[in-house]
Formats: sequence, structure tokens, C-alpha cells
Amino acid sequence: MLILLLGSGGREHALAWKLSQSPLCECLYIAPGNAGTAECGINMPIDVNDFEAIGNLVKEEGIELVLVGPEDPLVNGIYDYFQRDEYLRDIVVIGPSAAGAQLEGSKAFAKAFMQEFDIPTAAYREFTQENLAEGLDYLRQHNLPVVLKADGLAAGKGVLICQSSDEAEAEFAAMLDGKFGAASQKVVVEAFLEGIEFSVFAITDGTSYKLLPVAKDYKRVGEGDTGLNTGGMGAVSPPPFVDEALMQKVEERIVRPTIEGIGRRGFPYQGFVFFGLIKVGEDPFVIEYNCRLGDPETEVIMPRMHGDLVELLLALGAGDLAEMQLDEDPQPAATLMLVSGGYPGNYAKGKLISGLEKVEGSMVFHAGTIEQDGAVLTNGGRVLAITSMAEDLPGAIALSNHHANLIQFENKYYRRDIGFDL
Ligand code: AMP
Ligand code: GLY
Repeated sequence: MLILLLGSGGREHALAWKLSQSPLCECLYIAPGNAGTAECGINMPIDVNDFEAIGNLVKEEGIELVLVGPEDPLVNGIYDYFQRDEYLRDIVVIGPSAAGAQLEGSKAFAKAFMQEFDIPTAAYREFTQENLAEGLDYLRQHNLPVVLKADGLAAGKGVLICQSSDEAEAEFAAMLDGKFGAASQKVVVEAFLEGIEFSVFAITDGTSYKLLPVAKDYKRVGEGDTGLNTGGMGAVSPPPFVDEALMQKVEERIVRPTIEGIGRRGFPYQGFVFFGLIKVGEDPFVIEYNCRLGDPETEVIMPRMHGDLVELLLALGAGDLAEMQLDEDPQPAATLMLVSGGYPGNYAKGKLISGLEKVEGSMVFHAGTIEQDGAVLTNGGRVLAITSMAEDLPGAIALSNHHANLIQFENKYYRRDIGFDL
């Protein structure tokens, strides 16, 4: 079978690596991919939001399965685009409809959804320019810190945690005034939750679901979880504090009601739900939903998943998910992100990467890389994810640290303390 994977990050290289291991995978196309995905299949220079070009590729090549990596094309309606086309509607697209992707695409939508289905999350209110004055009043009386969220997609930058009322009021007004463009025309104001975060993933057809390995990512750029938020600087799976008792609460209070809610709302959802959770005391709360897998969580989840990913995705498409059994490797995994110095702010691209051949016993998933005349160059903020598995988590982290040191490029930076809080 011919398969198309959309995206170009570390998540997609990990997915491409897993898909290409399947005997069912005759040929894997990745659009647009990176230097790493090129080792698992054929990169196609097509933008993930160019649905017409994607549809044409699927028709011309006879592709039967499309796995969507990032949220953008999902929120923009790639699933619905395929549904509207007589030929494309028979292709298995893994990813929710645009309506389902609103769980990630609109924070206000997600909060209202959680409220309707009694899913534990921080208390909130939403505001626009029209009730700005009311919003400022609300903020003045709010406990500190207070969390402001741009309603729409803002490339991971739309969440501000404000320590003072003055700061909150100024940021709130700036957001409604277009600080994040259309994404912040609506702002969600929510209570700050204190606890430790973790990531739970389900694959679902909107009725049944299966859980994937649990992970935890490290979002802040600096050691000790300091500095700016990034896409993710590293991840571990499983996080040791996520025990059976906690997972039971997660399933009962969060996963099941979410899947039931998706069913009750009736939007097509055939893909992944990413539950961004926080453990407050002994109880889990939802920080956010995403409609896709996490990055860099996927770089620790895929190596821990047993079984054939293509078979799983085909079963999902055929309505047979309930019959599938997902097994995970008992060995823990850790991944470290090597990033371009300056990230998540300004950084240079096009730097030569050397030492990749020295890595033995870890997996290197490419994120922002590009191949040019046989050389691998940096091509983004997050450059490479070094994933290791070992008997225990400290062992896996140590192995990744060792290999992170052997790979060189100008201004390479990585956190040496992934797992420090576990
Ligand atoms: P989000 O895009 O909603 O995941 O928010 C980005 C990050 O902001 C999260 O990973 C949390 O670290 C933090 N955050 C968001 N909402 C809250 C909250 N209500 N309480 C504490 N931290 C939060
Ligand atoms: N690692 C967090 C995310 O993928 O959104």
C-alpha cells in the first residue's frame, strides 16, 4: 500500500520510521519531510496546507492512506476537503474533521466542550473587544497568577501567564488589539493550576479509543524549566509519577467523557486526541487538547509502541479499532532536542551538521534539517531529537546526553537536565 505522511518535524520522522517498518507499507511519501524522513521514503515538496496538490498526488500515485502530522491542515479542513471529493472520500485520512480539530483550534471551543461534558479543567471566561471592559474588571478581581490564552492557533506562543494585575490588563488589551492577529480576537482568561504536566494520547474513531504510551515533555528552553516556552526541548515516556491510580482517574474523568462528548457532538473524528494534562494534588486536569500527536512526545512514544502502525491506522479507518490491542515496551524512553542557538527567538539556518554517524544505540529523529549536496544542514529551531531506551529512565537520558554531545553544528544548544524533576 502507498502511504502519505504530512509534516516535516521530529514527530514526522518518528512516524515515518514506524510506518516504514510495516510489511504493509510498499512506499511512503512524506510532504514536505526533512533529511531524516528521506531515509524512510520519498519526500515531496508539497506544503501541508496545499490541499489541491496533496489531493492530486494521492490521485496520481494511488495513495490509499494519509496520516496528518501537524494541526494546521486539520484545523484548515483537510479531512473535509477529502470528503467533498468523489475520489478522495474513499481514502483513509487519519485526523479529525475541521469541526473536531476545533478542540485544538479554538481554546474557547475546548473550554465550552469541557464544561458541557464535566471534564475537569481550570475555571475560565472568554472575552472579545465587545466586552473588553467587563474583561478588565474580571481580571482585576482574579487571583494571581492568571492565564491569558489567545483563542486561535498562535504557533505555541498564544498563552501568557501573568504575575500581576497590571501586566494581565495590559497583555489582555494588547491581545484583543491583535497581538496574535486573528487568533487573539477572542481571549480565554483562566485560573492558574499548580502541578506537574504530562501528555496522554488516545487514538479514536469517535466511539472507541485506545491509549498510547504516556509521556511528559519539557517545554521551557532553559534548564530547571526556566525561560521561554518552546515547542518542546525533550520528553520521557513513561513519566514515573503517572501511576495506575492516576491513569484510572484520567480515563474515567477525562478520556472517556471526551470521547463520549465527541460522539455526542457528532463531528467526524478519526485520529489522535492529545490530552495536555496537569496533576494537581492527586487529581488530573486538562490544560489543553490537541488534535494530533505531540512533538517531541512522538519521538518517545513510537519507539515504545509494539505492533504495526499501518495495521492500526487501517483498522481505525475500517471501524475496527475496538478489536485492536496496543502493547507497549516496558523499557522507558527519553529524547533530547538539539536546537539552534537563539531558539525560540531568532536563530540561523543552514549550518552543517556533523557526527551523525557516531551515534550508535540511540535513534536520531530529524526535525529541522535539510539535505543539500549530500550534506545535512540545520533548517529550523528544533534540529534533531536523540531518543534512547534503556533499563531505566536515568540510563536512557544518560545515553541520549552522550550522543547529543557527539553531534556538532554551530551554536548547538540542548537541555542537559531533561528528567531533572522526576
Ligand atoms: P497551552 O497552549 O494551553 O498548552 O499552554 C501552554 C503552556 O502554558 C502549558 O503547557 C502550561 O505549561 C501553561 N499553562 C496553560 N494553561 C495553564 C493553567 N491554567 N495553569 C497553569 N499553567 C498553564
Ligand atoms: N509537545 C507539545 C506539543 O506537541 O504541542
